[in-house]
Amino acid sequence: MQQNKIPQHVAIIMDGNGRWAKQKHLPRLAGHNAGARAVERTLKAAQKAGVKFLTLYAFSTENWSRPKEEIDGLMKLLCQTLEKYTKDAVKNNIRLWISGEREPLSPAVLQQTDQAVKATSQNTGLTLNLALNYGAQQEIVHAVNALVATGKKSFSPQDIQAHLYHPDLPNPELIIRTSGEERLSNFLLWQAAYSEFYFTPVLWPDFDEAEFNKALQSYQNRKRRFGGI
Ligand code: FPP
Repeated sequence: MQQNKIPQHVAIIMDGNGRWAKQKHLPRLAGHNAGARAVERTLKAAQKAGVKFLTLYAFSTENWSRPKEEIDGLMKLLCQTLEKYTKDAVKNNIRLWISGEREPLSPAVLQQTDQAVKATSQNTGLTLNLALNYGAQQEIVHAVNALVATGKKSFSPQDIQAHLYHPDLPNPELIIRTSGEERLSNFLLWQAAYSEFYFTPVLWPDFDEAEFNKALQSYQNRKRRFGGI
C-alpha cells in the first residue's frame, strides 16, 4: 500500500446481508447481525489504513418498503450496536456523524444516535458517518429548500454544498459496493461526482480488512483526471 495515496473519505454500500443469510438457510436478520460484525472489522481496517472519513449506508429512504419485522430488527441492531460501542468510540477517538432525515425514525433510535453523536463530538480521529434514513435526492432537496428559505434566487454548486447534511464532509475519493451489484442506489449523488468505484462480489457479512485493503489498492492504481488530461 502506498501510504501517500490513502483516500481521505471512503463510502460503502454494504450489500448482500440477505443473500448471505439465505445461502446459510438463516433468517435475514442473522445476515444483518453478521453485517454489524463486518462494520466493526471495516472500521478498524479504515482506522489502521489512515482513512479520515468512513460513510456507511446503513438504511436508505427506500428501505422502509421492507417487511416491518426486518425494519424493526435493523433499528434494534443499530441501537444495540451504538449502545455497545459508544464507549469504545470515545476511547478510540472516533467521531460519529449521522446523515439523513430524522422523520420517521423512532424516538428510541433518535435518542440513541443523538447520544452517540454528542458523546463523540470532540473526537478528532476517524469520522464514522452513518447514512441512516438517507437518500441522496432528499439530501439535495433539503439543501435547496434551506437555500430557498434564505430568500436567495439562484444558487451555485458551493451554495448547495454548504447546505448538505454535513457541508464539511469531503467528497469520497472511493465508493465500494459489495455483493456484485453495480449501482449507486440514491447514495451520495452530489458527492460522487468524481469518486472512483470499486465493486466486489463479496457479500457484506464476509467483508474484512483484506477486502478493504484490496479496494484501497485498486484505488491507488487509478488515474484520476477530474475532467483534465
Ligand atoms: C443490505 O443488505 C444491507 C442493509 C440494507 C442494511 C445494512 C445494515 C447492516 C450492515 C447491519 C448493521 C449496521 C450497523 C451500522 C450497525 P440486503 O439486506 O439488501 O441484502 P440482500 O440484497 O442480499 O437481500
